[in-house]
Amino acid sequence: MAKAPDGTDIALKIFYTSTAQFIRGRYKYLLGDPRFTGVRITNTRKLIEYWCRKEFSNLGDAYNAGVRVPKPITFNRNILVMEFISYKGISGIPAPLIKDEPPENPAAAYLTIIKYVERAFILGKIIHADLSEFNIVNTGNELVIIDWGSAVKANHPNATEFLLRDIENVNRYFSREFRIEVFNSKVLLNTLLRRYEHRDKAMSDDDDWLLINGKRLIDELSANN
Ligand SMILES: Nc1ncnc2c1ncn2[C@@H]1O[C@H](COP(=O)(O)OP(=O)(O)OP(=O)(O)O)[C@@H](O)[C@H]1O
Ligand SMILES: [Mg+2]
Repeated sequence: MAKAPDGTDIALKIFYTSTAQFIRGRYKYLLGDPRFTGVRITNTRKLIEYWCRKEFSNLGDAYNAGVRVPKPITFNRNILVMEFISYKGISGIPAPLIKDEPPENPAAAYLTIIKYVERAFILGKIIHADLSEFNIVNTGNELVIIDWGSAVKANHPNATEFLLRDIENVNRYFSREFRIEVFNSKVLLNTLLRRYEHRDKAMSDDDDWLLINGKRLIDELSANN
């Protein structure tokens, strides 16, 4: 955590060379991403800077799609600057992960995450690709999806695979942890893929659900199940 010149809290994520090994393991996320062609893997420092820039750009895509994420502020070299997500608005206290601070209303929380997955995919054309209870924080009154470094564009060759894995992780967490009924992963995936094809007709309702041909995702899912 750091302070902005105006005194507000900001979060700095610093990418170190020690994380280079981790980044190399995730190289498939950069490969196939048209924004990052021509990245030389041989240069570790450059690779880390690309990763930082990629997370900044991904955060912006998700933010602009109306997904609750830390608002990206800027980046320089290996330092990403973003909104600090605090716990209950207490300065300097970071919001805990959802796995450590479970939501009061798990069923509503589940739907919120599904809503965000859809907004990111259809409006942001982006898939988180590392979504789980380890990358969702609970501020005490809202859920925020963090850690967008691995995210891929919807036209990435492995996009469908990553989207399904995100859905499965979220489904696994909410069904095991809270014993709530979740949507079938494959049905959810296919419904999202079908809606994506009609994204030019997307509108939002008062609860920020996307309307595609006037229908919310959850309406289509309950009709199909
Ligand atoms: N914007 C933020 N505001 C407050 N805390 C944050 C913010 N971003 C990240 N954190 C905290 O830092 C931790 C690590 O962030 P993040 O998940 O982005 O990095 P990471 O590289 O995946 O690290 P880790 O392996 O520890 O998960 C998060 O679990 C969260 O507790
Ligand atoms: Mg993380």
